[in-house]
Parts: sequence; C-alpha cells; structure tokens
Amino acid sequence: MRPAVVVLTGAGVSADSGVSTFRDAGGLWEEQRLEDVATPEAWARDPALVWRFYQLRRAQLAEVEPNPAHLALARLERALALAGAPFTLVSQNVDDLHARAGSSVLSMHGQLRVLACEACGRTLEDDAHLDPESFVPCSACGHPRLRPDVVWFGELPRFVDQVEVRLHEATHFLAVGTSGAVWPAAGFLGLARATGTRTFVNALEAPDNAGEVDHFLPGRAAEVIPGLVDTWIDEWGLSAHA
Ligand code: OAD
Repeated sequence: MRPAVVVLTGAGVSADSGVSTFRDAGGLWEEQRLEDVATPEAWARDPALVWRFYQLRRAQLAEVEPNPAHLALARLERALALAGAPFTLVSQNVDDLHARAGSSVLSMHGQLRVLACEACGRTLEDDAHLDPESFVPCSACGHPRLRPDVVWFGELPRFVDQVEVRLHEATHFLAVGTSGAVWPAAGFLGLARATGTRTFVNALEAPDNAGEVDHFLPGRAAEVIPGLVDTWIDEWGLSAHA
C-alpha cells in the first residue's frame, strides 16, 4: 500500500517541551481571558496588554526545544519523502518547534517569530525585539507598532483549502494534542473519516470531536508518537534511517 498521510498538531505536541496548552488545567486561557488577548478587538482596545502577552511567548521560544514527538514526525516526513509518498503536516501551534525539528509545516495560525505591519503588509522574522514593554515600529513605512503574525479569533486561518485537498487523498490522518475545540481544524477529523481515511488521535483525554475515531492513543505525545511512527515505518516498509 502507498500511504498518504496528513498530521494535524495542537498545543499538546509542544506540552512536553514545556510550552503551555490553552484549555488544560493551568493552560493559558485559564490564566488569561481569550478575548482579552487573542482577538483584533483586544489589539485595538489594549495593544500594550496583547503585546506583552505575545512578547512573553516569543521570548519563551529560545528556552524550549523540540521533543521526541516533533522529531518523530520529522523522521516520518523524511521516510515518506524517500518513498515518494505524500505527507502533510499542519499545525495550529504558533511556536517554531516543528520547523526546528526539521519538518515542513503549514502553520494555520501563523508564527510567533514573525511580525507583521497592518499598515503596509510587510512581514519579517524577528528574534531580536523581545522587550514586553516596547512596541516595534515598521522600518518600511514607519507605522508605530508591528503585530505578531498570528491568526486571532475572527481572522481567517491559513492553508485550509490545501489541507482539505490533502485530506481527500489521505489514507491516514493523525491528530496530536488538540482539543478539537477550534474550527476549522476541529473539522479535519470528521472530514477525514467521511472520506474513508483511517483516523488516529493522540491526546491526554479523548478530545470533544473524537467521536468514533478508529484509534484513540491516550498519553503524552513525546511517548506515544515515536512508537506510532516506528510502527508505520515498519508496516509500510520505509527506510528506518531516513
Ligand atoms: P488545547 O489547549 O485546546 O488542547 C490541548 C490538547 O492537548 C488537549 O486535548 C490535551 O488532552 C492534549 N495534551 C496536553 N498535553 C499533552 C501531551 N503531553 N501529549 C499529548 N496531548 C496532550 O490546544 P489546541 O487544540 O491546540 O488558537 O488549541 C487550538 C487553538 O485554540 C490554538 O491554536 C489557539 C487556541 O485558542 C488561537 O490562538 C487562534
């Protein structure tokens, strides 16, 4: 069989690297109201509060490393590429841990490392300006404050059409560490199941949208995903040393 794989990840895949999730006990949305920091309205109303929240998360990137789950997904991508089999990794995460593990990733909610100018549309990768109290002006047009290039509630997630096309062709769909609470990503599992794709979900507890998932794999991603990747590499006769 020639596999075609789509993997969706959420905050849980980075939890074992020390990045906070959103909705678990102690998660970000327990400490902070979502509508105070993750909406365009919040940015217009209180940019200093929103900026501080995202600057602290941008600074945290330097303190965290990819964990075995990120590394295993990058290994799977390389093994499938060597066999000429399609692989798509789409993530709701705004950290850069998949990229640092060596994956090509569709970041549907944007990236913390990137800043964007709402006035002229310029975007830039930035690791240097991490002061939570100082805005960064746009060096292209002089606009007084760049924003994090992340997708807020009420804004359009990216790459959705592309992912839906890949889901129609997929033989296997895996969701890792996502609560299934935020659309359109929450719909990918149902879409995959409707088109006859074998579905796998890894999380600490079965997510809201798990329904009749083919395989629910409870546990920490860093422990579960390397084993699943080994099983697939073996089952599909891929090179284990990709
Ligand atoms: P959530 O915080 O909603 O869900 C985290 C999921 O990860 C839960 O299902 C947990 O069981 C699971 N989990 C926690 N630790 C884990 C571990 N070590 N291994 C495996 N699973 C683990 O995070 P998301 O579903 O990613 O959007 O949240 C989706 C979106 O909501 C985010 O992208 C963000 C947020 O509001 C925006 O900010 C636009």
